[in-house]
Amino acid sequence: MMLPVAVVISGRGSNMEAIARTALAAGSPFRIVRVIADRDSAGGLARAASLGIPVSVVPVRQFADRASFDAALAAEIEASGARLTALAGFMRILSAEFVQRFEGRLLNIHPSLLPKYKGLDTHARALAAGDSHHGASVHYVTAELDGGPVIIQGRLRIRPADTSDTVSARVHTLEHIIYPHACTLIAAGRVEWRTGTVFLDGAPLTAPLIEESDAAA
Ligand code: GRF
Repeated sequence: MMLPVAVVISGRGSNMEAIARTALAAGSPFRIVRVIADRDSAGGLARAASLGIPVSVVPVRQFADRASFDAALAAEIEASGARLTALAGFMRILSAEFVQRFEGRLLNIHPSLLPKYKGLDTHARALAAGDSHHGASVHYVTAELDGGPVIIQGRLRIRPADTSDTVSARVHTLEHIIYPHACTLIAAGRVEWRTGTVFLDGAPLTAPLIEESDAAA
């Protein structure tokens, strides 16, 4: 049976689209059952609809507080039948209750080589620090913001002429590889969450899987 996956977005949804295209390919072990946005202006909604994926909006502005929004989002995910939820450019911090409820079934993608550069402005911070490498991480979501166990990272070499924009574009290209790959590994049963630890093929994952970018290096 294909693993039912929900994708939650706030913006343009290019990661959602990459995940969806992988899901639609022959032999995929997962399928997208719903794309959920927290605002009806999210560009990804039209992309998802054009791929034939059911979409819904849980409009954050209509909720008085985080608890009520999180409860509505949780209900929407549960109603979709999803067994795995991928946050993909979702610009809200979720409550501890929400994270607890979906423990081990909730993924996020963050544009840095975690544990470096949690939070915002990751590209500028990596450049300002003079780092040799930068990238993106797919991780399980825990109560600590951008702090859950990492499954896979896409890594590239920073070039002397790089700006936030050029590096961001190359990180995005890597994101579109690693996020669908993480979903496939989970759906195929190769990657598992066991009470806070990531397992790969039955053994604890001691370091994230790495996708090196040569073409984009
Ligand atoms: C990505 O850079 C991701 O790392 C971050 O938000 C961005 C989403 O981009 N969490 P998109 O909406 O998938 O194009």
